[in-house]
Amino acid sequence: MRIALRVVVFLVGAWLAGSIAVAQTSSHAVDAEGHQWWQHAVFYEIYPRSFADSNNDGIGDLKGIASKLDYLEDLGVDAIWITPCFPSPQVDFGYDVSDYENIDPMYGTLADFDLLANEAKKRGIHIILDFVVNHTSDQHKWFLDSKSSSTSAHRDWYVWRDGKGPGEPPNNWVSTFGGSAWKFDPVTNQYYYHYFYAEQPDLNWRNPAVAGAMFDVTRWWYKRGVAGFRLDAVDTLFEDPDLRDNPILRPGTNHFGDPIEQDKFNTKLPEVHEVLRGLCKVADKSNAVLIGETWTADVAELNRYYGEGSNELQLPMDFLFTMVNKLSPAEFRKQIAAVNGASGWPTFVISNHDIVRSYDRYGDGEHNDQIAKLMAALYLTLRGTPIMYYGEEIGMKTTPPTRREDVKDPIGRTGWPEEKGRDGERTPMQWDGSENAGFSKGTPWLPVPATSKTHNVADEAKDPNSVLEFYKKVLKLRHANLALLEGNYAAVNESDANVLSYVRMYRDRGVVVALNMSNAPQKVTLELKATGFASAKSLLATGESGAKGNEVSLEPYGVFIGQLAK
Ligand code: GLC
Ligand code: CA
Repeated sequence: MRIALRVVVFLVGAWLAGSIAVAQTSSHAVDAEGHQWWQHAVFYEIYPRSFADSNNDGIGDLKGIASKLDYLEDLGVDAIWITPCFPSPQVDFGYDVSDYENIDPMYGTLADFDLLANEAKKRGIHIILDFVVNHTSDQHKWFLDSKSSSTSAHRDWYVWRDGKGPGEPPNNWVSTFGGSAWKFDPVTNQYYYHYFYAEQPDLNWRNPAVAGAMFDVTRWWYKRGVAGFRLDAVDTLFEDPDLRDNPILRPGTNHFGDPIEQDKFNTKLPEVHEVLRGLCKVADKSNAVLIGETWTADVAELNRYYGEGSNELQLPMDFLFTMVNKLSPAEFRKQIAAVNGASGWPTFVISNHDIVRSYDRYGDGEHNDQIAKLMAALYLTLRGTPIMYYGEEIGMKTTPPTRREDVKDPIGRTGWPEEKGRDGERTPMQWDGSENAGFSKGTPWLPVPATSKTHNVADEAKDPNSVLEFYKKVLKLRHANLALLEGNYAAVNESDANVLSYVRMYRDRGVVVALNMSNAPQKVTLELKATGFASAKSLLATGESGAKGNEVSLEPYGVFIGQLAK
């Protein structure tokens, strides 16, 4: 671990229940276990367009976020990751950045950002920004100059190539958003490369000037108080210099009518790690954290993103959970064991702005709220850092458009009806049961789902059995309980096909978590022998679930979290 290698800090002061004693040296503050702030923090992703609209133009904004900081603090959030809020033509809703060092007027101003950062700081909430490293907007001044002539100063900041022949792109690569990944520019008679939309030209990271400029962007924001970045689409930074054709995986076409390719020569090239080491060095000076959008296939790949001695990403997002789309104890056991064996600190994610919400992925249509609590109990009690997604804590549902003409996300229009795009998971946050769910007094940019009448912050805050109140309780426990904060992870009752159980142990303390992933009541005799404990006493349980000695009874989809005793 980076800490072990480079930080020699000793714990001073006594442990206070729920708070971490820290010692500050010239390097980073760590606790008794050598853990840094981001290892105990709960992160929360905010899609700014959809969170809270302060000026009633139908689009969320920074002042809106600031107005909800008390809510976030009360919920138990320690860091917010705001998806891109920089100036942008909004082709990909902000993931097409036209200026990295400003705020888009639709979200506010730099002064609003400073105010937000200041208010967040007062509440102990860190701010993480989204750094779109692979590409800029085609309206960024670098690209405008780049395309202006083949000898322009920024020409080599992007990937320009001659076609194979008239009307023929340089190779067979397809954009992940549909169509060829090459766009012809008649002014200079060359093609430029774009892994995403044509309005998102890829930067040429082989050019040291690009790296220099991009590293400077991070320094600029660190000076403004940003505590780290989520690095967008890092897999796609480099392309094969020889532009070899990608292999075709199988005959046929995808949702966009393109050949089905393996992105062998345009993703996950080893050069990306050099960039990550560079970004890490800069981040380290500000004690900042780097989260990566890393679509790793397995733990070997995940380990590469931690780097050697953790010199790349502290939190490469492990999306393995987002690929377990059924409530299967065996599957989860396997994934958890795998990330616990990884070389860095685990990161857990169950929802984000690009995938169907966890509420729908796991819900059975009947016990969805109970299952939402079960999933919260799972990923918020594991050893690792969870990254929540706004609305998950109230049981927000994915609500995709029903007509093509209503689709906002461009891929939903090109891929309709098979691919409906990502609007469904980006609908306005449901603050109350009023019209527009308290998100805006104007017309929201995406319709407010009908479920805002039953699932909203105001009503759930009054209901002790709501999804929201359950999240609050788990998060409170997580912040206060040393076994959950610091403890190791060990699976118990591993042959149980219905109930996922594990213990977290720290020194002489232990917590057991038992999760019934079936729709029938279950009884579990906890196999605690190896742990040195004999029984469990409830800390938090749903409905009728509870324990006597080492016998745990669980209602359908029930949760039991218990303190272990000798
Ligand atoms: C990432 C973002 C996604 C965006 C894409 C292109 O995958 O999460 O929303 O469309 O990058 O920037
Ligand atoms: Ca607004």
